[in-house]
Amino acid sequence: MEQYIIKGGHALKGEVVIGGAKNAALGILAAAIMSNETVTIENLPNVRDINVLLQAIEAIGATVDRVSDNVVKINGSTIGSLNIDYEFIRKIRASYYLLGALLGKYKSAQVALPGGCAIGSRPIDQHIKGFEALGAVVTIDHGTISAQADELAGNHIYLDVVSVGATINIMLAASMAEGKTILENAAKEPHIVDVANFLNSMGANIKGAGTDVIRIKGVKELKSTTYSIIPDQIEAGTFMVAAAATKGDVLIKNVIPKHLEAISAKLVEIGAEVIEYDDAVRVKADKRLGHTNIKTLPYPGFPTDMQPQMAALLALSNGSSMVIESIFENRFKYVDELARMGASIKVEGNIAIVNGVEKFSGAMVSAPDLRAGAALVVAGCVADGITVVDSIHYIQRGYEAFEEKLRGIGADIERVDAEDYKAMQKFRLKVV
Ligand code: EPZ
Repeated sequence: MEQYIIKGGHALKGEVVIGGAKNAALGILAAAIMSNETVTIENLPNVRDINVLLQAIEAIGATVDRVSDNVVKINGSTIGSLNIDYEFIRKIRASYYLLGALLGKYKSAQVALPGGCAIGSRPIDQHIKGFEALGAVVTIDHGTISAQADELAGNHIYLDVVSVGATINIMLAASMAEGKTILENAAKEPHIVDVANFLNSMGANIKGAGTDVIRIKGVKELKSTTYSIIPDQIEAGTFMVAAAATKGDVLIKNVIPKHLEAISAKLVEIGAEVIEYDDAVRVKADKRLGHTNIKTLPYPGFPTDMQPQMAALLALSNGSSMVIESIFENRFKYVDELARMGASIKVEGNIAIVNGVEKFSGAMVSAPDLRAGAALVVAGCVADGITVVDSIHYIQRGYEAFEEKLRGIGADIERVDAEDYKAMQKFRLKVV
């Protein structure tokens, strides 16, 4: 198992470049197999979740040519199987986007049922509701979802909950269904818009992505395209919070400032300085920041994927803050880990009361999930002394070259193998 070892106390200063959005890339890679021509995808984040989904796409027979870490060519004409193995769903839930893609293209698909995960039960009833509304017969048997249809026909679908995954999955299937689909109460995240723009670049006919009503006119086939994925708003937000938490001054490049508005607004509210440029934001803080209240909401509200990172920052701020997690039922697992570093946070149901403390002390902590892991790394960058973050495979699911990017702005962080005691000692001796 690999770990990060971090020596805290360095203000992060300098420039960092943000990569492609993981949660857009996952939907786009699934959509890519719907064409029987070669599709080129650029600005692909080189992270574990993406690499696993590419393995799943290759496993069903599509042609995958990884031109470089961040560029891939996919051709779906060689697909020979419509069955996605549990092995891939176990590793990443978003493999279920292949259900919508294969159902849309071949009117048939089988995908293992995704389990819950660290942050909640995460049902997929809305995905199934959408597929059935399009005319598919969906059965669940022995942990596998099968979706079959003689024909898919457009329909008027109203999501009971605002769901990113269901919005993308239904959009995939409907893009090649007969006739018109209206999807109401759709999620509006930037990655929904990116997937819709990608599909349209292949010849789909999708309007209204980014609003809560998406109109899709099915087409017979999807063509070749070359497409560059939007920057990752959550990776950007994570570095914004890290800059503020360490009282640093960081220029975060290759971002879309509009996608970061909820995060920028909260950082400014607690006393950080956020300067917006065309494709960059600069975050500065030179004093202890203040408190605020956060409620996670679907976009354009404060993103749930930034909740742990913001809570870590508020845990060092002056005063008490309230953090309400309204999207997932179990997204405070990092609180016990932060407490080991001196944080004072009380969790009651989906509300955390964060009482700011003056400082954190370095400790051994373990990443319970992707974004909580990132929050612990931010906390380690601020803490006095050495912090060891274990289970960093979670973090590597969604952050490309995380330690290199942090080192590039002054963090003292190394990635070591937990069994490599010598490397641990070397780091300790280097930094004491
Ligand atoms: C996506 O998950 C993201 N994952 C998550 O990011 C993100 O936290 C989430 O959207 C919210 O923004 C990917 O894009 C791969 P939802 P998803 O469907 O699609 C309930 C990360 O850190 N729901 O919008 O699974 C669900 O239980 C990950 O990158 C149903 O009830 O989220 C939740 O309470 C973590 N029935 C709420 O909706 C359904 O059929 C929102 O979930 C679907 C969802």
